Amino acid sequence: MRSYISDLKDKVGQKITLKGWVYQTRSSGKVKFLELRDGTGIVPCILFKGECTDAALESFEKLTQETSVQVLGSVRKHPKHENVYEIGVETLEVLAPSENYPISPKDHGTDFLMENRHLWIRSKRQHAILRVRHEIISAIRDFFDGRGFTLTDAPIFTPSACEGTSNLFETKYFDEKMYLSQSGQLYMEATAAALGKVYCFGPTFRAEKSKTRRHLIEFWMVEPEVAFNDMYDNMDLAEQFVEYIVQRTLKNRTEELKVLERDLSKLEVIKGPFPRLHYKEAAEMIKKENPEFNIGDDFGAPDETIVSSKYDKPVFVHHYPQAIKAFYMKEDPNEPGYAMGCDLLATEGYGEIIGGGQREESIAKLLEKIKEHKLNEKDFQWYLDVRRFGSFPHSGFGLGIERTVAWICGLPHVRETIPFPRLYGRSYP
Ligand code: 4AD
Ligand code: MG
Repeated sequence: MRSYISDLKDKVGQKITLKGWVYQTRSSGKVKFLELRDGTGIVPCILFKGECTDAALESFEKLTQETSVQVLGSVRKHPKHENVYEIGVETLEVLAPSENYPISPKDHGTDFLMENRHLWIRSKRQHAILRVRHEIISAIRDFFDGRGFTLTDAPIFTPSACEGTSNLFETKYFDEKMYLSQSGQLYMEATAAALGKVYCFGPTFRAEKSKTRRHLIEFWMVEPEVAFNDMYDNMDLAEQFVEYIVQRTLKNRTEELKVLERDLSKLEVIKGPFPRLHYKEAAEMIKKENPEFNIGDDFGAPDETIVSSKYDKPVFVHHYPQAIKAFYMKEDPNEPGYAMGCDLLATEGYGEIIGGGQREESIAKLLEKIKEHKLNEKDFQWYLDVRRFGSFPHSGFGLGIERTVAWICGLPHVRETIPFPRLYGRSYP
């Protein structure tokens, strides 16, 4: 039977078979070392003349990076290090060769690595990132599932825009014109009327012609929506949520975060309450350091950094000017001109990871907004029905997975946070 590297601690002293790929090899005199990886970990396999077969030594000479192999040997504790194991090899068999593997342990340029993304993911640093991504996604699901939310996924083909028409991907749906979803939010508002507390989790698409360290063309978003929550309840939920996923990742993926050389002390303090700023307060802060900034405008990445650098916890900014926000945002009746939207800016200059807020529940106001934003009223009839039949205050938010992974891992760019990134100017492999 085949064993996995992740289970070696329970197999000390046993003879086992491992299957995997060659990560590295080296020889020193009579001892030959093979670093084997099988997807669950990497383990040194040691070949010693007399202990292994002659055929194993012959096979060793043929090994190149990423050759697939089968090893039979006994599991030993590392003589010096705790929780580190090694294999004393008896037999070694080449399963399939790997000639001229393009990615060597030396440094490669980003373009080259992106072109070879399907192979780049076989390296240690990428393993760590993808495992952290996986942990964040399971934490997200556990958080909502454990609080009585129902997963009600939204469609990808949509007849109407959610986040403005400027970055819509148009496609054909047989003879009709359709778009790829920018956000599942509008559908979550409808399912919240059915099930109260809901969320969707799926890919979203934005045709943004920007090459920045935090923009992807295709990214994953989790979007909870809660009936009868106002903007303040929404911030409470977002705060508990972000604390949960950061603390859980820190606890379960310490090893991976160490591989990534993440400063863990920066994550340990990510616990509520998070500071909350009115747009006007944040805008004043920005104006002091960036005189070019016009109060009333949306924040650029450097502006967000000015605000977030003042805190060691993520910071909410709420009550953005209505004019710069989407059509569905509720205008604060006590503060005309300001929307009950709330974004969460991550620490260390990572910028906005959450966008959300309270939705307009008045059908009359919504109709005005649809006109102002030059959207087609016909496409929104189903959405207006959510108001026609028992309208209710409700709020929700969207958290971008890749920006969150970049932040938690401490990565300089979102391109490494998703197995196969879609970026402006890159759609291969
Ligand atoms: O702020 P956004 O556009 O909000 C919405 O789409 C709302 N409809 C969500 C809701 O209320 N249900 O996007 C939400 C988050 C951002 O804060 C960011 O984390 C991420 O999605 N995001 C992107 N991530 C990577 N690349 C892009 N181009 C992104 N655009 C948004
Ligand atoms: Mg936003």
